[in-house]
Amino acid sequence: DWSMAAFRAEAVARIRQQVGDGKVICGLSGGVDSAVAAVLVHEAVGEQLNCIFVDHGLLRAGEAEDVVEVFRHHYNIPLVARDASELFLGKLDGVDDPEQKRKIIGTTFIDVFDEEAGKLGGADFLCQGTLYPDVIESVSPGGGPSVTIKSHHNVGGLPERMNLKLVEPLRELFKDEVRALGRELGLPERMVGRHPFPGPGLAIRIPGPVTRERADILRKADAIYLEEIRNAGLYDAIWQAFAVLLPVKTVGVMGDARSYDFVCALRAVTSTDGMTADSYPFDHAFLSRVATRIINEVRGINRVVYDVTSKPPGTIEWE
Ligand code: XMP
Repeated sequence: DWSMAAFRAEAVARIRQQVGDGKVICGLSGGVDSAVAAVLVHEAVGEQLNCIFVDHGLLRAGEAEDVVEVFRHHYNIPLVARDASELFLGKLDGVDDPEQKRKIIGTTFIDVFDEEAGKLGGADFLCQGTLYPDVIESVSPGGGPSVTIKSHHNVGGLPERMNLKLVEPLRELFKDEVRALGRELGLPERMVGRHPFPGPGLAIRIPGPVTRERADILRKADAIYLEEIRNAGLYDAIWQAFAVLLPVKTVGVMGDARSYDFVCALRAVTSTDGMTADSYPFDHAFLSRVATRIINEVRGINRVVYDVTSKPPGTIEWE
């Protein structure tokens, strides 16, 4: 793609110009935006970049391993990977308010990130994978106060607190352009084409209190759902698909015994920017297959439902 090749060259020049011989740190989330931003900055300033990956214990199955594999082994980019799941889950203990969860995860993330950055000897710049829609979303129309449905920008306080200047090489791009740039930079397809994933992760897909046990149950159901979506060739036609673990138990029969387990809701939407969305019209046979697998293979779930709500009036996530 010539336009992405041109963008890449220009962006690299601009980053070099901005950073000079300063040090840059980048927080990786496992998502495509931070990955593309980091690879671009690495191309521009090489070893002046350090990446930090904070695992809050609320990622999907295999995600942490994927990040390490791609950065350390595929690109040979220095990466600190910190398993902070005990810390995050401890702070989330007993918390059920969605905004409270976001706040706790956001501030804990900043603490851990700050600590890891300190161990690396600090930095001058923070690289972020901010996209154009994030830029316009944070500017309210007409200059009035903007309506905030959910506090999306989980790590908003980071640059101020750490006294860092921002490097945001993707500020002019939309999601599809970031994906094209990722391909141009040689990122593996499974990372480039990955569905968006919220910063607070599975915490906002477990209404009610988050526990390690519930996160483990959800991760298994989610992995089965995504595997079936991939096998059916539907992954790229869907903007986002995920399972939600409801804090509701219902009665069922397993063999000849009564079961009393959680309900799992499946969500899948089409969208172009996440601002509006429609539920994905799976055929019934597909949904039945997924439900059967989840109920048979995941202990703790005995009922599966499908969410057919559009955005608006619903949101994509359940919290
Ligand atoms: P909603 O649920 O508001 O989501 O329709 C729109 C898009 O934003 C993602 N999302 C988040 N991303 N931190 C994030 O980084 C958050 O707290 C957050 N909440 C929602 C959501 O996954 C969807 O892509």
